[in-house]
Amino acid sequence: MKIQDSASESASEPLLDLAALRADTPGCDSVIHFNNAGCGLMARPVLGAMLDHLRLEAAIGGYEASAARAAEVADFHAATAELVHTRPGNIAFAGSATHAYSKALSAIDFRPGDVVLTTRNDFISNQIAFLALRRRHGVEIVHAPDHPDGSGVDVAAMAALMRARRPRLVAATHVPTNSGLVQPVAEIGRHCRELDLLYLVDACQSVGQLDVDVERIGCDLLTATCRKFLRGPRGSGFLYVSDRVLAAGYEPLFIDMYGARWTGPDSYRPVDTAARFEEWEFPYATVLGSAAAVRYALRVGVGPVARRTPALAARLREQLAGVPGVRLLDGGPAPAALVTFAIEGWRPQPFKAAMDARGINSALSFREFAHFDFADKDVEWCLRLSPHYYNTEDEVDAVAATVAELAGSAR
Ligand SMILES: Cc1ncc(COP(=O)(O)O)c(C=O)c1O
Repeated sequence: MKIQDSASESASEPLLDLAALRADTPGCDSVIHFNNAGCGLMARPVLGAMLDHLRLEAAIGGYEASAARAAEVADFHAATAELVHTRPGNIAFAGSATHAYSKALSAIDFRPGDVVLTTRNDFISNQIAFLALRRRHGVEIVHAPDHPDGSGVDVAAMAALMRARRPRLVAATHVPTNSGLVQPVAEIGRHCRELDLLYLVDACQSVGQLDVDVERIGCDLLTATCRKFLRGPRGSGFLYVSDRVLAAGYEPLFIDMYGARWTGPDSYRPVDTAARFEEWEFPYATVLGSAAAVRYALRVGVGPVARRTPALAARLREQLAGVPGVRLLDGGPAPAALVTFAIEGWRPQPFKAAMDARGINSALSFREFAHFDFADKDVEWCLRLSPHYYNTEDEVDAVAATVAELAGSAR
């Protein structure tokens, strides 16, 4: 990966070699991809790693192929650990962020009356999982209020709830799916550490676009996908498990022969590392593609990516702000690269179809994805545009012009 210095940026800041990055990304030739919050475009090394492995499996056998690539498979854990600032033994591969999240929740021995303290912007599937825990185990779900200034959860109020309710679990989503809001997860984490509360963070939308540091956040568990801003393949994600949680003996329900040793006819012992949250069977081509994606992100550089990606989104917001009929919906002082807006006079599918027809990938969010947030904003749906570092300023301008054209046109 070439990263060149440029006089056009501040002296200390390397400029990404956009031409090289785009040449590495076949999708850039065919589409303006502003749906990285859905699924990022894979780079050639990711595709190559997966195709090579599938060919190897076909040529020599699946078990033999994974044995031959053991070092590269192990690099998934090493690279991901480097990305989130931990050690390889604290990382477990998962089939999705939701898979990682359910495994994490399954490790907690919830009892009736236990409190799960979360926010009004936690991801839809997490909220449904909490409701399922309420239905099955009688847990109480408490939502911390948002700060009146629109900056996300009110951390002081959340900390007061931690003290008053002593939750069994504190859960926060770093960047929700339904807006560019960045929740103050490290501030929440400071209170969790001070009060010794179990803390689970959903970093699905932040990993790969922001610097996610599990130590700085102070979380016990953290989940993410590889397919979004990390630009990995579909069907991959990971779970970070802290040393504290491993040492305390947390293990997933239905631990398998990879996560545990069967020590005798009626006993088993979980392995010492986060591998206790993995299963024996791996989609090896996908794991290798994910490892390649994480290495790629590290080569491009977390710092430059974290500066450029939200800056492209900010440029887009700036232009959309002046478009009559468009209402921007992203709160917080420094929103991430998820640009969401409501548009007057359009229904959701025709609007997205009009974007599709102009070669622009986007995504819709509905009230059902974010009951609290969308009720507060009084919207039923919005369009989400999520650029990434490999998008260009020209693409941002073209997308803004397209939205402006559609906003002024017949429905
Ligand atoms: C914030 C957030 N958390 C979790 C998920 C779920 O990820 P996955 O589809 O990999 O399970 C998403 C997906 O959009 C998300 O945006």
